[in-house]
Amino acid sequence: MKNGVSMNKEKCKRVYITTPIYYVNDVPHIGHAYTTIIADTLARYSRLAGMEVFFLTGTDEHGQKIEQAAKARGKTPKEYADEISMRFKKLWDEFEISYDKFIRTTDEQHIKGVQKAFEVMYKNGDIYKDVYRGHYCVSCETFFTAQQLVDDEFCPECGRSTSIVEEESYFFRLSKYQDRLLEWYESRPDRILPKSKRNEVINFVKNGLDDLSITRTSFDWGIKLPESINDPKHVIYVWLDALMNYVTALGYGTDERLMYYWPAKVHLIGKDILRFHAIYWPAFLMSLGLELPHHVAAHGWWTRNGEKMSKSKGNVIDPKEIADAYGLENFRYFMLREVPFGQDGDFSQRALIDRINSDLGNDLGNLLNRIIGMSGKYFDFKIDSKKVDTYHKNELEAVGSIFSTVEPHLYEIQTNRYLEDLWKALRIANKAIDTSMPWAKMKEQKEDEAMATIALVANILAKVSILLHPFMPKATQTIANALGFEIDHKSYVKFIKNSELLESFTIKKVPPLFPRIEEPLIEISIEKEKKERETAFVQKKSEENTQNNIITIDQFLQVSLKVGTVVEAEDVPKSKKLLKLQVDLGEERPRQIVAGIKEWYNPSDLKGTQVCIVANLKPAKLMGMVSEGMVLAAKDEKGLSLIRPESPKKAGTPIG
Ligand code: MSP
Repeated sequence: MKNGVSMNKEKCKRVYITTPIYYVNDVPHIGHAYTTIIADTLARYSRLAGMEVFFLTGTDEHGQKIEQAAKARGKTPKEYADEISMRFKKLWDEFEISYDKFIRTTDEQHIKGVQKAFEVMYKNGDIYKDVYRGHYCVSCETFFTAQQLVDDEFCPECGRSTSIVEEESYFFRLSKYQDRLLEWYESRPDRILPKSKRNEVINFVKNGLDDLSITRTSFDWGIKLPESINDPKHVIYVWLDALMNYVTALGYGTDERLMYYWPAKVHLIGKDILRFHAIYWPAFLMSLGLELPHHVAAHGWWTRNGEKMSKSKGNVIDPKEIADAYGLENFRYFMLREVPFGQDGDFSQRALIDRINSDLGNDLGNLLNRIIGMSGKYFDFKIDSKKVDTYHKNELEAVGSIFSTVEPHLYEIQTNRYLEDLWKALRIANKAIDTSMPWAKMKEQKEDEAMATIALVANILAKVSILLHPFMPKATQTIANALGFEIDHKSYVKFIKNSELLESFTIKKVPPLFPRIEEPLIEISIEKEKKERETAFVQKKSEENTQNNIITIDQFLQVSLKVGTVVEAEDVPKSKKLLKLQVDLGEERPRQIVAGIKEWYNPSDLKGTQVCIVANLKPAKLMGMVSEGMVLAAKDEKGLSLIRPESPKKAGTPIG
């Protein structure tokens, strides 16, 4: 018994975290990055907290969909899978995802493990052969019942057309596991996270489970049945193949030395694949006599204008593009802060910018700068925590209770609540400065009190940087370095578990951690496409107008067009598009014209050149600057050109 207890304790220290394995028919987008970043954050947190972590990700490479995608590109399925799998791996490496293993379902070890599992299930009577007739969606690799179809034909998941497939198939006795599955969901309220999803699954199972067809004969690109069964026309259904990755990665059926990590602490997935993970997978595991995972956690979708992002919809956002423009860690913070786990979230650059400027820049970055500034000015950068408890007992208690209760949010994948709580602590720190006013205390010669406030803030920052480390590994290490320590398990125990305070230290200056961003930094590819469509639309409309919308000469003469000379041209630093011009129109002072031409012209190339101006437009304000006219330009798909007189003309010469 004694041994049993210590074994259990040992087990608690092991944490196995998985992402779904990604289909190689799609290139990585922010939906994939989201799952992986959540998993990475959990893995990093668990390591920091002293657990022995195994973090798995990888690619799902078999099935008809991939066979077809490869064929369309004139490649073999393996060549095609190699190429896309590499793109996922490369992205995760660039994103410094701390995975321990990247599994591919074309790995020999995986194939052998899946065949072994099939054999075990077959031998124990859970697999039998029969004929399957059903409505099959190639894209989702899923059979649907007639009742599930939309308008008697279309796939309820992706909306594509289904076809009736009748084939000999091996079946898994899923129906046999109905009661045991229900018992499993009941065994803990948080088996399926978020808890709101649990009932969906329970109802589905209560409605009755049909046995599951787990082989196909209509295509080849899959794992063959084990030789002992000797039925070469069948390949194993892609979902059985794919789900097995979670144990074959640990050597199930081949070299089982890593199986001590099993069962998984959590399988992180998107809500679209919950049924596979919360119903099929535990049933397969029961059949194999393996323990069941602790949790299956399903997040919502990232959408674009309310629609799920997917390649087939052509509305995907490249996570690399965003991370390059805004910073990888800022992007990580945003994804995990913005959307409550399980809910959908619409991606927008504006929301990302707001998070960076407000949460990271104002609340966190400035807080550090404030204490660097004050400690430099008053105490030669020295900070001492001795009197914090005397002057800030309440604040210390308040943040102490936040830090000691925040962890469960993370294990319930409520990353937004976890971060909200850390920000409550930052708010307490910011408020302490505003109310205690160390500068006033210094004037009153209450140096101890001023020091206590600065030290309180330093300690809050130290603890927040540790707890935030799994989300933003580099920025938090920079904060910790400024505060004179390294973030690791030792400092986690010291400052978080044992609630110790920083010893006396000299704070170091750091460059601004989260520079302010004013405007969207990039044109997301799909925005580019949208723009192209808009330009085409505008062109078409203008052609139509030319044909239909005839104006009289008098109407034309109402527009005052003039030649102008650019006397000054300046960049508008906060804007990606605008330049500010001073244009001489022969009037008593040059006109200020704000023009959206920055992408095509440098200010220095414009000075002294001539342009054509609409001179009687009502002045308008652009980014707070008055614009007193409009420059004429022509834009097509190759770019924009200003319209200019062929030879110089006196400033103000009318055009007509
Ligand atoms: N290959 C299967 C998983 C097998 S796991 C044993 C698969 N692959 S996938 O590439 O299509 O999707 C992988 C994950 O990405 C899923 O969890 C899915 O929910 C997630 N996402 C795909 N698009 C998404 C969004 N637009 N938003 C958030 N996540 C989404 O399914």
